[in-house]
Amino acid sequence: MRISVIGSGYVGLVTGGCLAAIGHQVVCTDSDESKIRTLNEGKLPIYELHLDAIIEKARRDGRIVFSSEVARAAHDGDAIFICVGTPPLETGDADLSAIDRCARLIASEAKSSKLVIEKSTVPVQTGQQLKRQLEVYGRTPGVKFTVASNPEFLREGTAVGDFLHPDRIVVGVDDAGAEKQLREIYAPILDQQFTCPVHDGKCPPAPKPPFVVTTINSAELIKHASNSFLAVKISYANAIAELCERIGANVQEVTRAMGMDPRIGSAFLNAGLGFGGFCLPKDIQAFIRLAEKAGVDFSMLKEAERLNKSRIDNFVEKMRRSLWVLKGKRIGALGLAFKAHTDDVRFSPAIDVVKRLLAEGAHVCAYDPEAMDRARFDGIAIEYAKEPAAVAKGADAVVILTEWPQFKQLDWKAMHDAMARPLLLDGRNLLDPAAMKAIGFEYHSIGRPD
Ligand code: UDX
Repeated sequence: MRISVIGSGYVGLVTGGCLAAIGHQVVCTDSDESKIRTLNEGKLPIYELHLDAIIEKARRDGRIVFSSEVARAAHDGDAIFICVGTPPLETGDADLSAIDRCARLIASEAKSSKLVIEKSTVPVQTGQQLKRQLEVYGRTPGVKFTVASNPEFLREGTAVGDFLHPDRIVVGVDDAGAEKQLREIYAPILDQQFTCPVHDGKCPPAPKPPFVVTTINSAELIKHASNSFLAVKISYANAIAELCERIGANVQEVTRAMGMDPRIGSAFLNAGLGFGGFCLPKDIQAFIRLAEKAGVDFSMLKEAERLNKSRIDNFVEKMRRSLWVLKGKRIGALGLAFKAHTDDVRFSPAIDVVKRLLAEGAHVCAYDPEAMDRARFDGIAIEYAKEPAAVAKGADAVVILTEWPQFKQLDWKAMHDAMARPLLLDGRNLLDPAAMKAIGFEYHSIGRPD
């Protein structure tokens, strides 16, 4: 099927690349000409495991093209995926202006009937607005627009695997034809019949993903409800960590035992600096606002959001308790991305901590395997280390801010010896307290006895 994607960011490129990989003809568009130029030079504007190989193969097979002429998306595709950003406004509401622009552009440019699929994360009832805009701005007689919701459940760092081996595919439709077309688009994934670029054709045995068909409103709500629940789960673990620090228990032992109950599950119970990224923080905010507008006081989400914001304050306070004065101190920071396996620093707790240290007059030397260029581009005026061990040189403290697994393998004895003071604060509970103490560190972490 001929497919268009509007918005070539994390979601749009993974969607376009994977749909091309399973056999569709894809046009990926974006109004940001520099992004399209980068793509047409054979490079990716983002780092996402396996994506470069997928897009390179799709390009060689003539299955994907990139264009900054967004109107082309309305002309070329039978199905159009809207994958534009919906960042938070000051009010906490989602900014839907890009969605609105897409609707008006598709309506005015389409010369044949289209299936318009909202994949961006949007507040419930956006699909109804989308339908109305397409009708109101439609120009060509006889052209029919069908709207569907198809929320993404992609995690940065594993997005390609998440797309090709999803837990479920959710579609919100109010038209049998739309359901049929979406089944056709996703057929190779529903049947798990494709040459998998992630597992080199040897995918681990797994049940075929369910195809969940519901209404547009319910599909939009599933996305917000899922992400907000994940955020609540993380904040719950962080509240347990606060309690553990006061009563002398170990949050990792508590959450490990909790997770053995399949009704709870162990994922997303890691205490630390809290959740960041371009999704969870904005989705929980948008969900709170959406509930308020519907007359529901979702105070549970407000508390989860408040608690998450306090993680940064608590961590900086923990540093102050050890360092007393932060001004003039040399701090080595390991990690800048909002989580491991991504270069994304948007809404990163690591960046929040670094900004707080700079504001207090500390000198920060940071290392991140992937995110330093983006941090530099965002104007984070710190010293960037060429390799992780360099952050320890003459440092009064080293802080671990992102859960990159390679930080576990560092030569921590050498790091210890290079530091002015062997003070290590582990914001992601990455290391073993006993092992760090044995090396001679003053070691502090989250929710575990010092
Ligand atoms: C999230 C959702 O997981 C995904 O389903 C949705 O489609 C998009 O938003 P993502 O934003 O890529 O994905 O990151 P995720 O892996 O969810 O991590 C979000 C944040 O939570 C990160 O800052 C991570 O460090 C933090 N986190 C995660 C914790 O603090 N504790 C945990 O146990 C898990």
